Amino acid sequence: MAPTDATPPTPGTSPLPAGLPADLAGRARVRDDGLLWVSPGTLDDEPRLRGLGYGPVRHVLQLRCTLPLDPSAGAPAPCRPFRPGLDDDEFLDVNHRAFEWHPEQGDLDAAGLAERLAAPWFSAEGFLVHTDDGGRIDGYCWTKVHPASTDEPAMGEIYVVARDPEVQVRGLGRALVVTGLEHLSRQTVDGAPLAVGMLYVESTNERAVGLYRSLGFSLHHQDVAYSLPGAAP
Ligand SMILES: CC(C)(COP(=O)(O)OP(=O)(O)OC[C@H]1O[C@@H](n2cnc3c(N)ncnc32)[C@H](O)[C@@H]1OP(=O)(O)O)[C@@H](O)C(=O)NCCC(=O)NCCS
Repeated sequence: MAPTDATPPTPGTSPLPAGLPADLAGRARVRDDGLLWVSPGTLDDEPRLRGLGYGPVRHVLQLRCTLPLDPSAGAPAPCRPFRPGLDDDEFLDVNHRAFEWHPEQGDLDAAGLAERLAAPWFSAEGFLVHTDDGGRIDGYCWTKVHPASTDEPAMGEIYVVARDPEVQVRGLGRALVVTGLEHLSRQTVDGAPLAVGMLYVESTNERAVGLYRSLGFSLHHQDVAYSLPGAAP
């Protein structure tokens, strides 16, 4: 199970296959899903790896935006904080149906959710839940604050966002992302408000990529997953 809706799977411990170009060794690793992940991927990698029998199977984009959002981004959706223990089942149901197509996120189960709710970074205030008129969860935007590191600024991540696929309310997804980004803009790290929004998205998720671009996100880098030589594509 990936740590976010589109973050590559957790690092594996498998050794790197022999014969990889030397410049790839520092950027490549075989992860728990059995794929060779190259992060960040460059334009030159793909033709060279194809020539060695590797096949690209996933492109995960990391997009970033400047916070706070411009008010023209639109209105937020009215949301409340997630209630651990009370909202778990409804959330898992919507999450499963919204991400049925996704290699990891749709499989999130009660144990995986409990693990995340117990993580040091978890904040119920940052797990924003939207409900329908009857009080049922029909969308959510789960955010995560990343402190600065030696080579990265502090960032506010849209960790997972979705609306119930059976609820056809145009604009709900956009309003949920705006809600999450507004929440992140109000968070401070070391006394300074977060100035960078970030998320991961599969390159094939055209609807989400289009939404993020229209909100001002742009590509920071991409992680590319390759099947190993001889593996089924
Ligand atoms: C991604 C998601 C949250 C978007 O929510 P939504 O309610 O469908 O989106 P909205 O109605 O707010 O529309 C979002 C934008 O996508 C655009 N859009 C609609 N269909 C599209 C398509 N096929 N391709 C590209 N853009 C499309 C809309 O025009 C709209 O743009 P606008 O806001 O500039 O008008 C929702 O589709 C979802 O839950 N998907 C499954 C989970 C998922 O993929 N989450 C994101 C993972 S990174």
